[in-house]
Amino acid sequence: MRIFAILFLLTALAQSDEAPKPPEPLYETREQHDRNGIGKFFMGREIAHVMGHQAAGWLERPEREEEERTDLAVAALGLKPGDAVADIGCGTGYYASRMGRIIGEKGVVYGVDIQQEMLDLLVKKMKMLRVENVKPVLGAEKDPKLAPESCDLMLMVDVYHEFDFPYEMTRAMIPALKKGGRLVFIEFRGEDPKVNIKTVHKMTEAQVKKEMALHPELEWVETKEDLPQQHIVIFRRK
Ligand SMILES: C[S@@+](CC[C@H](N)C(=O)[O-])C[C@H]1O[C@@H](n2cnc3c(N)ncnc32)[C@H](O)[C@@H]1O
Repeated sequence: MRIFAILFLLTALAQSDEAPKPPEPLYETREQHDRNGIGKFFMGREIAHVMGHQAAGWLERPEREEEERTDLAVAALGLKPGDAVADIGCGTGYYASRMGRIIGEKGVVYGVDIQQEMLDLLVKKMKMLRVENVKPVLGAEKDPKLAPESCDLMLMVDVYHEFDFPYEMTRAMIPALKKGGRLVFIEFRGEDPKVNIKTVHKMTEAQVKKEMALHPELEWVETKEDLPQQHIVIFRRK
């Protein structure tokens, strides 16, 4: 009798640790939707259009550092010399260049993007700034094309909300993290109406956590709220 009670308890504990199942079907298409979104929804959230390379100048605007306090954002990552980092959706490499300088010649930044035009701008900029440890990687919509367990940290600044396949992309990113490596989201705060960014280009912390809860390999570590408009939501590969 006692052995059955113990088995029952163990099964209950194992079940309570199980990740929620992904929705079926994974995505929903709605005819009526935000014009800045693609009409495809994941767990109640509409996915945004990918920012085209034609708008790359916006990423490099001089006032960005002050508006977004990107200096604080980079410092909050706690990078060390020699780290291997992926800047997923790197665009022109605004963050890649800053991270490259911190991690130094023994470190590497994989600048991953699905637009070759963005990678061309990234390479040009790294040459101009003489940052030599940033490697361009042409990713795919469902795959960052990174080697298994190659990264200490993966950063997505203003990117995740525009993944066309957020579930598949996250499944493919996790194996490229080292055990204990961090997956970091910097997203404009969806909870805050004062943040003047289009709705589908913002995310609430609760939504990020809800979507990441589908991946049992990840655990939430902390959310930093020191930036003026964005939160930094940090997960770790167990
Ligand atoms: C708004 S920009 C942000 C660029 C950069 N992170 C920054 O903050 O300066 C978003 C970038 O994510 C890229 N992107 C969208 N989906 C992607 C995916 N599945 N894999 C890699 N990059 C992606 C886009 O091509 C675009 O360059």
